[in-house]
Amino acid sequence: MKQLNLSLESRNGAKYLQISAALRDAIRHCQVLPSEQLPSARELAAQLNTNRHTIMAAYAELIAEGWIESIERRGYFVNRALPIETSTHSAEVTNNSTPFQWRFTKTLFPTEKNIAANFQYNFAGGNPDINLFPFKEFKNHLNDAMSRPDLVSLNYGNNQGFEPLIKQIKIYLRRARSLNHREIVVTNGSQEALYILAQILLSRGDAVATEAMGYRPAWRAFLSSGATLVGIDQDEHGMIPSSLEQAISAHHIKMIYLTPLHQYPTTVTLPIARRMAIYKIAASHQIAIIEDDYDHEFHYRCQPLAPMASDDPQGLVIYISTFSKIMYPGVRLGFIAVDKTLAQAIVSYRTLINHKVSIPQQDALARWMASGEFERYLRKITKIYQQRRDFMCDELKKYINNGKIINFKQPDGGMAIWINVGSHAKQLVKYAVKNQVFIQDQAHFQLDPISSQNHHIRLGFSGMCPQKIKKGLKIIFNHGN
Ligand SMILES: Cc1ncc(COP(=O)(O)O)c(C=O)c1O
Repeated sequence: MKQLNLSLESRNGAKYLQISAALRDAIRHCQVLPSEQLPSARELAAQLNTNRHTIMAAYAELIAEGWIESIERRGYFVNRALPIETSTHSAEVTNNSTPFQWRFTKTLFPTEKNIAANFQYNFAGGNPDINLFPFKEFKNHLNDAMSRPDLVSLNYGNNQGFEPLIKQIKIYLRRARSLNHREIVVTNGSQEALYILAQILLSRGDAVATEAMGYRPAWRAFLSSGATLVGIDQDEHGMIPSSLEQAISAHHIKMIYLTPLHQYPTTVTLPIARRMAIYKIAASHQIAIIEDDYDHEFHYRCQPLAPMASDDPQGLVIYISTFSKIMYPGVRLGFIAVDKTLAQAIVSYRTLINHKVSIPQQDALARWMASGEFERYLRKITKIYQQRRDFMCDELKKYINNGKIINFKQPDGGMAIWINVGSHAKQLVKYAVKNQVFIQDQAHFQLDPISSQNHHIRLGFSGMCPQKIKKGLKIIFNHGN
């Protein structure tokens, strides 16, 4: 029997395991081929200067793993079923430097190149100021969640959400958003909600009507189901109902995606008359509406309008919301408020992706909400964000006076200001990004960025303190002076 070239150098562990690993490598590298005989235990023991029992233990290990087989009265052989053909083939496989080619079956959208949070001045609209978050206060609730854990919930099981959190969300929705009698499904942020809704309610051939300027992550979730997007014209009040009617007559629209309280990205509030008109159109064509109410609390002129879902006799409005703005985006907690049938379907589909949303995080949030500190914090940050809105508006007026800004309207709510800077929006973004300032222009939010004009930029005011806002604005608007 030809000797095998086995190397035990740089191998650790029990001797028999070192030997079985070396034999495995010898087989992989085609020193012995499938069906070929291996040295007897005695021969190999002599070669490796060890005892026969050690070799037999190594062989037993390889038999158990399926690399080799033992044939009575004949000896040990490499398993004939191993898919290793010839030594040439093996050399090709092991030495081939061409990496395996993945064949993706889904459209993969590019991930963000410029991560807003890495910029010194971050004007991304819709960013909360995480420095204001009461981490110590929240940590006490996390501690409590860990000290008195709900052991049943920590196990596999109910995937709708942590019951005490659902209870708190229901109380909050009833009191603060006039929303009642709905099932709640807790999600890993609104993005998960959007993705699941797209998967269970849309298919190829369907279309989603969306504001012509809007929230790209939602659009991408809809596209992932095979549906197409139809941009509906909008004006200074939001989506135009007559344009929606026209689109419905031309496309197979199955769903309408809306941000009625603070239109994304312009932040305008869809007036009552338009809400009613859009609802009527949806009801008469049996089309569902996704109402994305992502920053409800941050309304400064008056109480925020109640969601469309609060006046939904047909039950066609799917209400989604998030804790990303109230707390911080990394918390990954959001929810869907819908009827029982849809809630069950959402939970059933979500179980394909994930068994649960993190229970300790939900538990701590439920405790924070029940303590009253949550609403106190909301009142505090709403006031601060209103002051920042006012501050930024005053600063921006200076740049109207020196001709850098054409106009803007003080928003009634939201976390950003939509500013008309004329035709040099794109250059402003380029310049700002080069100078450690993150801003986005109108094109970034347009469904059809090529044929539409690009005259606006969007500046978030909530995420930074006034001093930083002032310095950042100086960089954006003072260049070229
Ligand atoms: C329109 C809109 N919907 C939802 C969200 C929040 O998404 P998530 O809950 O996935 O963080 C945002 C955040 O920017 C948003 O702008």
